[in-house]
Amino acid sequence: VDPEGQAAFDAIIDADGRIEPRDWMPDAYRRTLVRQISQHAHSEIIGMQPEANWITRAPSLRRKAILMAKVQDEAGHGLYLYSAAQTLGTSRDTMLNQLNTGKARYSSIFNYPTPTWADVGAIGWLVDGAAICNQVPLCRASYGPYARAMIRICKEESFHQRQGFEILLTLARGTGEQRAMAQDAVDRWYWPSLMMFGPPDGDSPNSARSMAWKIKRFSNDDLRARFVGMLVPQAEALGLSLPDPDLRYDDAAGRWITGEIDWTEFQEVLAGRGPMNAERLRRRNEAHDDGAWVREAAAEYARKQAMSDGG
Ligand code: 3HC
Repeated sequence: VDPEGQAAFDAIIDADGRIEPRDWMPDAYRRTLVRQISQHAHSEIIGMQPEANWITRAPSLRRKAILMAKVQDEAGHGLYLYSAAQTLGTSRDTMLNQLNTGKARYSSIFNYPTPTWADVGAIGWLVDGAAICNQVPLCRASYGPYARAMIRICKEESFHQRQGFEILLTLARGTGEQRAMAQDAVDRWYWPSLMMFGPPDGDSPNSARSMAWKIKRFSNDDLRARFVGMLVPQAEALGLSLPDPDLRYDDAAGRWITGEIDWTEFQEVLAGRGPMNAERLRRRNEAHDDGAWVREAAAEYARKQAMSDGG
Protein backbone atom coordinates (compact mmCIF):
# COMPACT_ATOMS: atom_id res chain seq x y z
CA VAL A 1 0.00 0.00 0.00
CA ASP A 2 1.13 3.55 -0.75
CA PRO A 3 0.29 5.59 2.40
CA GLU A 4 0.65 8.91 0.58
CA GLY A 5 -1.42 7.68 -2.32
CA GLN A 6 -4.09 6.33 0.02
CA ALA A 7 -4.22 9.63 1.92
CA ALA A 8 -4.55 11.62 -1.31
CA PHE A 9 -7.25 9.21 -2.56
CA ASP A 10 -9.20 9.43 0.71
CA ALA A 11 -9.00 13.24 0.67
CA ILE A 12 -10.44 13.40 -2.86
CA ILE A 13 -13.26 10.98 -2.00
CA ASP A 14 -14.06 12.81 1.27
CA ALA A 15 -14.16 16.13 -0.60
CA ASP A 16 -16.56 14.58 -3.15
CA GLY A 17 -13.90 15.12 -5.84
CA ARG A 18 -13.08 13.07 -8.91
CA ILE A 19 -10.50 10.31 -9.17
CA GLU A 20 -8.83 10.49 -12.58
CA PRO A 21 -7.03 7.68 -14.47
CA ARG A 22 -3.54 8.82 -13.45
CA ASP A 23 -4.42 9.20 -9.75
CA TRP A 24 -3.36 6.54 -7.28
CA MET A 25 -6.31 4.32 -6.34
CA PRO A 26 -6.74 1.16 -4.23
CA ASP A 27 -6.61 -2.01 -6.38
CA ALA A 28 -10.07 -2.95 -5.08
CA TYR A 29 -11.47 0.42 -6.24
CA ARG A 30 -10.00 -0.18 -9.70
CA ARG A 31 -11.31 -3.76 -9.80
CA THR A 32 -14.88 -2.87 -8.79
CA LEU A 33 -14.97 -0.08 -11.39
CA VAL A 34 -13.76 -2.40 -14.16
CA ARG A 35 -16.39 -4.90 -12.99
CA GLN A 36 -19.27 -2.39 -12.95
CA ILE A 37 -18.35 -0.31 -16.01
CA SER A 38 -17.62 -3.31 -18.24
CA GLN A 39 -20.89 -4.97 -17.19
CA HIS A 40 -22.67 -1.69 -17.89
CA ALA A 41 -21.09 -1.56 -21.36
CA HIS A 42 -22.03 -5.20 -22.02
CA SER A 43 -25.62 -4.37 -21.03
CA GLU A 44 -25.76 -1.60 -23.63
CA ILE A 45 -24.43 -3.86 -26.38
CA ILE A 46 -26.72 -6.81 -25.56
CA GLY A 47 -29.57 -4.33 -24.99
CA MET A 48 -29.54 -3.59 -28.73
CA GLN A 49 -30.90 -7.05 -29.53
CA PRO A 50 -34.42 -7.08 -28.01
CA GLU A 51 -35.33 -3.85 -29.80
CA ALA A 52 -33.46 -4.51 -33.04
CA ASN A 53 -35.88 -7.42 -33.38
CA TRP A 54 -38.54 -4.82 -34.34
CA ILE A 55 -36.61 -2.43 -36.61
CA THR A 56 -37.70 -4.25 -39.79
CA ARG A 57 -41.27 -4.55 -38.49
CA ALA A 58 -41.93 -1.13 -36.97
CA PRO A 59 -45.51 0.00 -37.72
CA SER A 60 -44.48 3.25 -39.45
CA LEU A 61 -41.45 4.93 -40.96
CA ARG A 62 -41.42 7.39 -38.04
CA ARG A 63 -41.34 4.58 -35.47
CA LYS A 64 -38.65 2.76 -37.48
CA ALA A 65 -36.46 5.90 -37.61
CA ILE A 66 -36.86 6.50 -33.86
CA LEU A 67 -36.08 2.88 -33.02
CA MET A 68 -32.98 2.84 -35.26
CA ALA A 69 -31.76 6.03 -33.57
CA LYS A 70 -32.29 4.47 -30.15
CA VAL A 71 -30.48 1.23 -30.98
CA GLN A 72 -27.59 3.24 -32.44
CA ASP A 73 -27.51 5.27 -29.20
CA GLU A 74 -27.13 2.05 -27.19
CA ALA A 75 -24.12 1.07 -29.30
CA GLY A 76 -22.62 4.48 -28.59
CA HIS A 77 -23.27 4.11 -24.87
CA GLY A 78 -21.42 0.81 -24.98
CA LEU A 79 -18.51 2.55 -26.73
CA TYR A 80 -18.25 5.36 -24.13
CA LEU A 81 -18.38 2.81 -21.31
CA TYR A 82 -15.80 0.40 -22.79
CA SER A 83 -13.55 3.45 -23.30
CA ALA A 84 -14.10 4.53 -19.68
CA ALA A 85 -13.26 1.00 -18.46
CA GLN A 86 -10.09 0.95 -20.62
CA THR A 87 -8.75 3.99 -18.72
CA LEU A 88 -8.46 1.58 -15.76
CA GLY A 89 -6.04 -0.67 -17.60
CA THR A 90 -8.28 -3.36 -19.03
CA SER A 91 -8.43 -3.87 -22.83
CA ARG A 92 -11.41 -3.88 -25.17
CA ASP A 93 -10.48 -7.35 -26.39
CA THR A 94 -10.39 -8.71 -22.83
CA MET A 95 -13.82 -7.30 -22.03
CA LEU A 96 -15.39 -8.43 -25.30
CA ASN A 97 -13.91 -11.89 -24.89
CA GLN A 98 -15.43 -12.13 -21.40
CA LEU A 99 -18.82 -11.16 -22.84
CA ASN A 100 -18.63 -13.41 -25.90
CA THR A 101 -17.59 -16.46 -23.88
CA GLY A 102 -20.42 -16.00 -21.36
CA LYS A 103 -18.05 -15.12 -18.49
CA ALA A 104 -19.25 -11.54 -18.07
CA ARG A 105 -22.46 -10.34 -16.50
CA TYR A 106 -24.82 -7.97 -18.28
CA SER A 107 -28.16 -6.62 -17.08
CA SER A 108 -30.72 -9.39 -16.45
CA ILE A 109 -33.41 -7.33 -18.17
CA PHE A 110 -32.15 -8.12 -21.66
CA ASN A 111 -32.77 -11.83 -21.30
CA TYR A 112 -36.51 -11.49 -21.90
CA PRO A 113 -38.25 -11.86 -25.29
CA THR A 114 -39.98 -9.09 -27.25
CA PRO A 115 -42.93 -10.87 -28.90
CA THR A 116 -45.02 -7.76 -29.76
CA TRP A 117 -44.48 -4.15 -30.87
CA ALA A 118 -45.79 -3.02 -27.48
CA ASP A 119 -42.58 -4.46 -25.99
CA VAL A 120 -40.65 -1.66 -27.67
CA GLY A 121 -42.86 0.79 -25.75
CA ALA A 122 -42.57 -1.12 -22.48
CA ILE A 123 -38.79 -1.32 -22.82
CA GLY A 124 -38.54 2.44 -23.42
CA TRP A 125 -40.90 3.33 -20.57
CA LEU A 126 -39.81 0.71 -17.99
CA VAL A 127 -36.26 -0.37 -18.88
CA ASP A 128 -34.96 3.04 -19.93
CA GLY A 129 -36.99 4.62 -17.13
CA ALA A 130 -35.23 2.33 -14.62
CA ALA A 131 -31.90 2.98 -16.33
CA ILE A 132 -32.41 6.74 -15.87
CA CYS A 133 -33.13 6.30 -12.13
CA ASN A 134 -29.96 4.24 -11.81
CA GLN A 135 -27.75 6.31 -14.12
CA VAL A 136 -28.49 9.90 -13.03
CA PRO A 137 -26.75 9.38 -9.65
CA LEU A 138 -23.86 7.74 -11.53
CA CYS A 139 -23.21 11.15 -13.15
CA ARG A 140 -21.72 11.99 -9.74
CA ALA A 141 -19.69 8.78 -9.41
CA SER A 142 -16.24 9.43 -7.94
CA TYR A 143 -14.43 8.05 -11.00
CA GLY A 144 -14.17 10.91 -13.53
CA PRO A 145 -14.37 9.04 -16.86
CA TYR A 146 -17.42 7.04 -15.67
CA ALA A 147 -19.27 10.12 -14.37
CA ARG A 148 -18.59 12.03 -17.58
CA ALA A 149 -19.75 9.13 -19.79
CA MET A 150 -22.95 9.02 -17.73
CA ILE A 151 -23.78 12.69 -18.32
CA ARG A 152 -23.89 12.16 -22.10
CA ILE A 153 -25.72 8.84 -21.76
CA CYS A 154 -28.43 10.27 -19.47
CA LYS A 155 -29.28 12.98 -21.98
CA GLU A 156 -29.97 10.35 -24.65
CA GLU A 157 -31.71 8.01 -22.19
CA SER A 158 -34.47 10.56 -21.49
CA PHE A 159 -35.34 10.56 -25.22
CA HIS A 160 -35.48 6.74 -25.03
CA GLN A 161 -37.90 6.83 -22.11
CA ARG A 162 -40.15 9.48 -23.73
CA GLN A 163 -40.50 7.59 -26.99
CA GLY A 164 -41.40 4.42 -25.08
CA PHE A 165 -44.06 6.24 -23.08
CA GLU A 166 -45.48 7.71 -26.30
CA ILE A 167 -45.70 4.28 -27.97
CA LEU A 168 -47.66 2.91 -24.98
CA LEU A 169 -49.90 5.99 -24.86
CA THR A 170 -50.72 5.58 -28.56
CA LEU A 171 -51.57 1.90 -28.09
CA ALA A 172 -53.50 2.46 -24.84
CA ARG A 173 -55.68 5.01 -26.69
CA GLY A 174 -56.04 2.74 -29.74
CA THR A 175 -58.30 -0.24 -30.38
CA GLY A 176 -59.17 -2.70 -27.62
CA GLU A 177 -56.65 -5.11 -29.12
CA GLN A 178 -53.86 -2.48 -29.08
CA ARG A 179 -54.68 -1.59 -25.52
CA ALA A 180 -54.57 -5.24 -24.48
CA MET A 181 -51.18 -5.59 -26.22
CA ALA A 182 -49.82 -2.61 -24.24
CA GLN A 183 -51.15 -3.98 -20.94
CA ASP A 184 -49.69 -7.43 -21.69
CA ALA A 185 -46.25 -5.90 -22.33
CA VAL A 186 -46.38 -3.87 -19.07
CA ASP A 187 -47.41 -7.05 -17.23
CA ARG A 188 -44.37 -8.90 -18.59
CA TRP A 189 -41.78 -6.13 -18.09
CA TYR A 190 -42.75 -4.64 -14.72
CA TRP A 191 -41.13 -7.20 -12.39
CA PRO A 192 -37.94 -7.72 -14.47
CA SER A 193 -37.47 -3.91 -14.57
CA LEU A 194 -37.53 -3.84 -10.72
CA MET A 195 -34.82 -6.49 -10.72
CA MET A 196 -32.55 -4.22 -12.81
CA PHE A 197 -31.71 -2.30 -9.62
CA GLY A 198 -30.01 -5.35 -8.15
CA PRO A 199 -30.74 -7.60 -5.17
CA PRO A 200 -32.26 -6.27 -1.94
CA ASP A 201 -29.82 -4.13 0.06
CA GLY A 202 -29.33 -6.95 2.58
CA ASP A 203 -28.11 -9.25 -0.24
CA SER A 204 -25.91 -6.74 -2.04
CA PRO A 205 -22.26 -7.64 -1.44
CA ASN A 206 -20.84 -4.69 -3.43
CA SER A 207 -23.05 -1.87 -2.14
CA ALA A 208 -21.28 -0.99 1.11
CA ARG A 209 -17.90 -0.42 -0.51
CA SER A 210 -19.34 1.16 -3.66
CA MET A 211 -21.20 3.65 -1.47
CA ALA A 212 -18.14 4.33 0.72
CA TRP A 213 -16.20 5.09 -2.46
CA LYS A 214 -19.10 7.24 -3.78
CA ILE A 215 -19.49 5.12 -6.90
CA LYS A 216 -22.98 4.11 -5.83
CA ARG A 217 -24.84 7.11 -4.37
CA PHE A 218 -28.10 5.41 -3.38
CA SER A 219 -28.88 1.84 -2.39
CA ASN A 220 -30.53 -0.68 -4.72
CA ASP A 221 -33.79 -0.55 -2.73
CA ASP A 222 -33.84 3.26 -2.55
CA LEU A 223 -33.52 3.61 -6.32
CA ARG A 224 -36.08 0.85 -6.88
CA ALA A 225 -38.58 2.70 -4.66
CA ARG A 226 -37.83 5.99 -6.44
CA PHE A 227 -38.49 4.29 -9.80
CA VAL A 228 -41.84 2.85 -8.64
CA GLY A 229 -42.79 6.30 -7.34
CA MET A 230 -42.26 7.62 -10.89
CA LEU A 231 -44.23 4.75 -12.47
CA VAL A 232 -47.46 5.06 -10.49
CA PRO A 233 -48.62 8.46 -11.83
CA GLN A 234 -47.32 7.66 -15.32
CA ALA A 235 -49.27 4.36 -15.39
CA GLU A 236 -52.38 6.35 -14.45
CA ALA A 237 -51.69 8.81 -17.28
CA LEU A 238 -51.36 5.83 -19.64
CA GLY A 239 -54.56 4.26 -18.34
CA LEU A 240 -52.63 1.02 -17.83
CA SER A 241 -52.31 -0.92 -14.58
CA LEU A 242 -49.13 -2.18 -12.89
CA PRO A 243 -49.30 -5.97 -12.29
CA ASP A 244 -48.67 -5.57 -8.56
CA PRO A 245 -51.82 -5.91 -6.43
CA ASP A 246 -49.80 -5.49 -3.21
CA LEU A 247 -48.26 -2.18 -4.35
CA ARG A 248 -48.96 0.43 -1.67
CA TYR A 249 -47.68 3.76 -0.38
CA ASP A 250 -46.13 3.59 3.09
CA ASP A 251 -46.78 7.02 4.66
CA ALA A 252 -44.45 6.40 7.57
CA ALA A 253 -41.55 5.41 5.28
CA GLY A 254 -42.61 7.98 2.64
CA ARG A 255 -42.11 5.48 -0.15
CA TRP A 256 -43.90 2.96 -2.37
CA ILE A 257 -43.69 -0.66 -1.25
CA THR A 258 -44.01 -3.24 -4.02
CA GLY A 259 -45.27 -6.80 -3.69
CA GLU A 260 -42.77 -9.63 -3.24
CA ILE A 261 -40.15 -9.72 -6.01
CA ASP A 262 -39.30 -13.24 -7.24
CA TRP A 263 -35.56 -13.32 -6.48
CA THR A 264 -35.29 -16.95 -7.59
CA GLU A 265 -36.22 -15.79 -11.11
CA PHE A 266 -33.50 -13.12 -10.78
CA GLN A 267 -30.90 -15.71 -9.72
CA GLU A 268 -31.97 -18.05 -12.54
CA VAL A 269 -31.49 -15.27 -15.12
CA LEU A 270 -28.10 -14.35 -13.61
CA ALA A 271 -27.11 -18.01 -13.79
CA GLY A 272 -27.71 -17.87 -17.55
CA ARG A 273 -31.03 -19.74 -17.45
CA GLY A 274 -33.30 -16.85 -18.42
CA PRO A 275 -35.68 -17.11 -21.41
CA MET A 276 -33.23 -15.53 -23.89
CA ASN A 277 -29.70 -15.82 -22.41
CA ALA A 278 -28.53 -18.44 -24.92
CA GLU A 279 -30.00 -16.56 -27.90
CA ARG A 280 -28.42 -13.24 -26.79
CA LEU A 281 -24.99 -14.86 -26.58
CA ARG A 282 -25.45 -16.69 -29.91
CA ARG A 283 -26.43 -13.47 -31.68
CA ARG A 284 -23.59 -11.56 -29.97
CA ASN A 285 -20.99 -14.04 -31.24
CA GLU A 286 -22.55 -14.04 -34.71
CA ALA A 287 -22.29 -10.22 -34.81
CA HIS A 288 -18.70 -10.40 -33.55
CA ASP A 289 -17.72 -12.88 -36.25
CA ASP A 290 -19.55 -10.90 -38.95
CA GLY A 291 -17.56 -7.84 -37.88
CA ALA A 292 -14.13 -9.51 -38.03
CA TRP A 293 -13.38 -7.98 -41.46
CA VAL A 294 -13.92 -4.46 -40.04
CA ARG A 295 -11.46 -5.08 -37.19
CA GLU A 296 -8.91 -6.60 -39.60
CA ALA A 297 -9.23 -3.67 -42.01
CA ALA A 298 -8.87 -1.14 -39.19
CA ALA A 299 -5.81 -2.94 -37.82
CA GLU A 300 -4.22 -3.09 -41.29
CA TYR A 301 -4.94 0.61 -41.85
CA ALA A 302 -3.40 1.46 -38.46
CA ARG A 303 -0.32 -0.64 -39.32
CA LYS A 304 0.16 1.15 -42.65
CA GLN A 305 -0.35 4.55 -40.95
CA ALA A 306 2.25 3.67 -38.34
CA MET A 307 4.67 2.61 -41.11
CA SER A 308 4.15 5.82 -43.12
CA ASP A 309 4.40 7.95 -39.93
CA GLY A 310 7.53 6.04 -39.03
CA GLY A 311 8.97 7.10 -42.44
N1 3HC B 1 -28.39 -8.01 -13.86
C1 3HC B 1 -27.25 -8.73 -13.80
N2 3HC B 1 -26.44 -8.77 -12.70
C2 3HC B 1 -26.83 -8.01 -11.65
C3 3HC B 1 -27.99 -7.21 -11.64
C4 3HC B 1 -28.79 -7.24 -12.83
N3 3HC B 1 -29.91 -6.54 -12.92
N4 3HC B 1 -28.08 -6.58 -10.45
C5 3HC B 1 -27.02 -6.98 -9.73
N5 3HC B 1 -26.27 -7.84 -10.44
C6 3HC B 1 -25.06 -8.54 -9.98
C7 3HC B 1 -23.94 -7.58 -9.67
O1 3HC B 1 -23.18 -7.32 -10.83
C8 3HC B 1 -23.19 -8.37 -8.61
O2 3HC B 1 -22.42 -9.39 -9.24
P1 3HC B 1 -20.84 -9.20 -9.46
O3 3HC B 1 -20.25 -8.89 -8.10
O4 3HC B 1 -20.39 -10.51 -10.03
O5 3HC B 1 -20.67 -8.06 -10.42
C9 3HC B 1 -24.28 -9.11 -7.85
O6 3HC B 1 -25.40 -9.17 -8.74
C10 3HC B 1 -24.68 -8.44 -6.55
O7 3HC B 1 -25.22 -7.18 -6.83
P2 3HC B 1 -24.69 -5.87 -6.06
O8 3HC B 1 -25.87 -5.01 -5.73
O9 3HC B 1 -23.76 -6.25 -4.97
O10 3HC B 1 -23.82 -5.22 -7.24
P3 3HC B 1 -23.60 -3.68 -7.58
O11 3HC B 1 -23.22 -2.89 -6.36
O12 3HC B 1 -22.69 -3.66 -8.74
O13 3HC B 1 -25.07 -3.13 -8.03
C11 3HC B 1 -26.00 -2.45 -10.15
C12 3HC B 1 -25.67 -3.64 -9.22
C13 3HC B 1 -27.02 -1.55 -9.46
C14 3HC B 1 -26.57 -2.98 -11.48
C15 3HC B 1 -24.70 -1.66 -10.38
O14 3HC B 1 -23.73 -2.55 -10.88
C16 3HC B 1 -24.88 -0.52 -11.36
O15 3HC B 1 -25.38 0.53 -11.00
N6 3HC B 1 -24.39 -0.73 -12.62
C17 3HC B 1 -24.38 0.34 -13.59
C18 3HC B 1 -25.71 0.55 -14.20
C19 3HC B 1 -26.14 -0.64 -15.03
O16 3HC B 1 -25.38 -1.53 -15.35
N7 3HC B 1 -27.43 -0.62 -15.37
C20 3HC B 1 -28.00 -1.72 -16.11
C21 3HC B 1 -27.83 -1.40 -17.53
S1 3HC B 1 -29.33 -0.92 -18.13
C22 3HC B 1 -29.10 -0.26 -19.61
O17 3HC B 1 -28.05 -0.16 -20.13
C23 3HC B 1 -30.36 0.15 -20.18
C24 3HC B 1 -30.47 1.13 -21.26
O18 3HC B 1 -29.31 1.75 -21.67
C25 3HC B 1 -31.14 0.46 -22.38
